[in-house]
Amino acid sequence: MNRAATIVVTIVVAAFFAAIAVVAIVVSGAFNVAADAPDSALMHMIVAYTRERAIDVRAEGIAVPPLDKPAMIAEGAAHYDAMCTGCHLAPGLRENAMRPGMNPKPPALATLPPEGAAEQFWIVKHGIKMTAMPAWGLTHSDADIWNIVAFLQKLPGLSLEQYRALVAKGGDKHDAMPMGR
Ligand code: HEC
Repeated sequence: MNRAATIVVTIVVAAFFAAIAVVAIVVSGAFNVAADAPDSALMHMIVAYTRERAIDVRAEGIAVPPLDKPAMIAEGAAHYDAMCTGCHLAPGLRENAMRPGMNPKPPALATLPPEGAAEQFWIVKHGIKMTAMPAWGLTHSDADIWNIVAFLQKLPGLSLEQYRALVAKGGDKHDAMPMGR
């Protein structure tokens, strides 16, 4: 066999054994899907990078409208208060009984600098697979989602009073997520 043929055969054989190993891990039940089993550093790195690239590539072509209209921010605040706080908290909300058990744990969005508006729009519209972050675009228009993004850009740094005033101004959105009401 010449050198090129040896390399090709080696790659094919290695890929075959790698595939068998993956099948064996899946079929034997060795991979632990428990949310309370910590991920390895390698797994964490691969997932974080995959997520970042997937979102960056898809958010690139999104044109961001003006987001500083007070009515948009208030509408977005009311939607956020009704639909997002269980997972992402808000000014004045303590840790709840659900978030510590989530994997990945949703970030407390009021405590972080906001991501770019185009990225946020994409995330809120499409959600993120296998993380519990829902795709709100199935039940909300793009205009609704831009309102939410306009609010998210203002959220870090809002005081409790400013947050509550915005939510009240945006009106009642609880019919979007009737949590046992
Ligand atoms: C059932 C829980 C849940 C609900 C409800 C939810 N999210 Fe999320 N969200 C998540 C999780 C989990 C992540 C983290 C995903 C990850 O690590 O890739 C996330 C991530 C995000 C991110 C990306 C944060 C970052 O900087 O990385 C944004 C923005 C976001 N959510 C906005 C919202 C908005 C706005 C709403 C309400 C309309 C909402 N989410 C409702 C679970 C939720």
